[in-house]
Amino acid sequence: MLKIREATRDDFNLIWPFFREIVQAGETYAFPTDLSREQAADLWMDTPRRTFVAEEAGEVLGSYYIKTNALGPGSHVCNCGYMVSPSTRGKGVATAMCEHSQLIAVDLGYKAMQFNSVVATNTGAIRLWERLGFETVGRLPKAFDHPKAGYVDCLVMFKWLGTGRCEAPWPAIEHQDQGGAG
Ligand SMILES: CC(C)(COP(=O)(O)OP(=O)(O)OC[C@H]1O[C@@H](n2cnc3c(N)ncnc32)[C@H](O)[C@@H]1OP(=O)(O)O)[C@@H](O)C(=O)NCCC(=O)NCCS
Repeated sequence: MLKIREATRDDFNLIWPFFREIVQAGETYAFPTDLSREQAADLWMDTPRRTFVAEEAGEVLGSYYIKTNALGPGSHVCNCGYMVSPSTRGKGVATAMCEHSQLIAVDLGYKAMQFNSVVATNTGAIRLWERLGFETVGRLPKAFDHPKAGYVDCLVMFKWLGTGRCEAPWPAIEHQDQGGAG
């Protein structure tokens, strides 16, 4: 059973191995590939408004953050980032985290969620966000220097959120492990 709960500072020890692997690959996040553990913890744990982990049997399989996307008149829009351990891909962990993040977003008072820079080569992620109701609203030409594909476009993806609420403090939303892709 997958459980999603708010991350503690100590959880970064369990996030860091897959965070480092994803960032070192340099294919999905506009973070320096040699980001230090301290810089990573600052980006993922300290700067965001909240950070969550998805765990199963005590093992952290994925993590996401939620933060305010812009100031003042833009502050009703949130931004999230998601990472799933490479050994756990295709089992619905990101789907569960994204659904969870939308409930948390509404509970925190946000009206919309925006992904600012989804790399166009990240087709699995794009398909996933589309399936969860996000629309591509913009395309940034050659905004990402991909290690294999060179300069590739980035997509701005957006979803206006409904008005459902979840009870604070953030309940652990339990998801059945789907036991496979899809
Ligand atoms: C993108 C990412 C978060 C998806 O995580 P995930 O837990 O594998 O996602 P899910 O299992 O919920 O769904 C993944 C989709 O890929 C499919 N899939 C099947 N096997 C897969 C595999 N081995 N690896 C990845 N995806 C697979 C799933 O069936 C699903 O497709 P569908 O939506 O068409 O049904 C994860 O690949 C990741 O952390 N990537 C690196 C960081 C990243 O790109 N973050 C997002 C930035 S926008």
